[in-house]
Amino acid sequence: MNPIREVQIKAFSKEYKVQIHSDFRGLGETIKKFYPISSIFILTERKLSGLFSKFYESELSCPGIPYHEIYIKGGEKNKHILRTAEVYNKLIELGADRKSLIIALGGGVVGDFAGFIASTFQRGIRFAQVPTTLLASVDSSVGGKVAVNADLGKNMIGSFYQPEFVYLPLIALSTLPKREWRCGMAEIVKHGLLSGGEYLEKVRSNDKSVYDHTSPELLELIVGSILYKSNVVSQDEREAGLRKVLNLGHTTAHAIESLTNYRRYSHGEAVSIGLLTAIILSAEKQGLDPSWIESLRKILKAYDLPYHDKSKSTQVAKHTLHDKKNVGNSVRFVLLQSPGNPIWDIPIELEEIASAFRKQKKMD
Ligand code: GLY
Repeated sequence: MNPIREVQIKAFSKEYKVQIHSDFRGLGETIKKFYPISSIFILTERKLSGLFSKFYESELSCPGIPYHEIYIKGGEKNKHILRTAEVYNKLIELGADRKSLIIALGGGVVGDFAGFIASTFQRGIRFAQVPTTLLASVDSSVGGKVAVNADLGKNMIGSFYQPEFVYLPLIALSTLPKREWRCGMAEIVKHGLLSGGEYLEKVRSNDKSVYDHTSPELLELIVGSILYKSNVVSQDEREAGLRKVLNLGHTTAHAIESLTNYRRYSHGEAVSIGLLTAIILSAEKQGLDPSWIESLRKILKAYDLPYHDKSKSTQVAKHTLHDKKNVGNSVRFVLLQSPGNPIWDIPIELEEIASAFRKQKKMD
C-alpha cells in the first residue's frame, strides 16, 4: 500500500522518511525494507493496543520474526528514568538483540520513552515511530529528540536518536479527544508562524472543522508542518542554533504548566497561550507588525485554543526563570521579526514578560 504522502527527513546523522497512510495497511511492507530483523517489539500503551492491534497485528506477523508488545504507562509522570529498568529487563527476557526493531506506537510520551529505550538498549538498536496523536504526528515523532524525565526536570536525560522511519496512520487520529486535537494544533500554528508565507495562510484560513482525520485540509496542515520541521532539522539536528526556533511560545508555556502543576492545561494549550505572549513581545521588541497580535488571537480562537490565563502575571514571569534554555539569570525567548523570520536567544526582562502576559489577560 503506497503512502498518501511522504516527506524525506535529512538529518545529519540519518535520512529517513515520514510516510502518511490512511490506516495501518502498509506498515508490514515498510518494515520489510529494514530486513534483516530478528524480532519486533511494540512499545505502546495498553489502551492503544486495545484500539489498534486488530489493525496492525496482521501487518506484523512475518514468518520467522516474533513480535511482542511491551506496555508502558501513558502520562508525563510515567516517562521517568525509574520506569526504564522494567522495560530493559523485559526486552532482555524476551530475547531482544541488536537486530531487533522497536516500534514506538503512541503519542509524544510513548515516542520519547520508547525512543530513549531504543537509543540505549545494547548501545542503540533500530526503532520506528508510529504516532497516534496530532502532536506526535507534526512534532515529537520527527527530528530524533528522545528523552525521559528525572525527579527534578522534564526531558533531563536523553539524546538525539533518529528513527528508521515514521509511519503516520491517520485513522489513529479518529479516536482523539478534542483536547488532543487542540494540543497538536498549537504546534501547527507555531510552525505556521515560524514558516510564514503560504503555509501560514493555510493555517490562517482553516478552523476547528479540520479536527477530522479524513479532512484534506488537515492533511495539508500536517504535511506542511512536517516539511517545516524537516527543513529546520536538516540544518541543525542537535539544536546548536536554528532548531531553537521550535521553542517559540514554550518559555511562557513551561512557566504556566509548572505554575499550575501541569493540571490546568495540556502542553499544547499552554503553548497556545505562550505563542501569544511571544507575539506581543515580538511586536514590542523586534518590530513585528502589531496587527499580528490580533491575527494570532483570531487564529487561536478559530481552533478553540486558549490565549490567556488567569495566573498572576508576575508569578508567570518569575517561573520563566526555571526554563532550562536560559543562560544565568536572564530569560531567553524565541521571537519573530516577521512571520517566517524567527530570532532566538533574545534576553527579556521579567517585567516585560509580566507586562505582555497582563496585556493578553485583558483580551476577550
Ligand atoms: N519539539 C521541538 C524539537 O523537536 O526541537
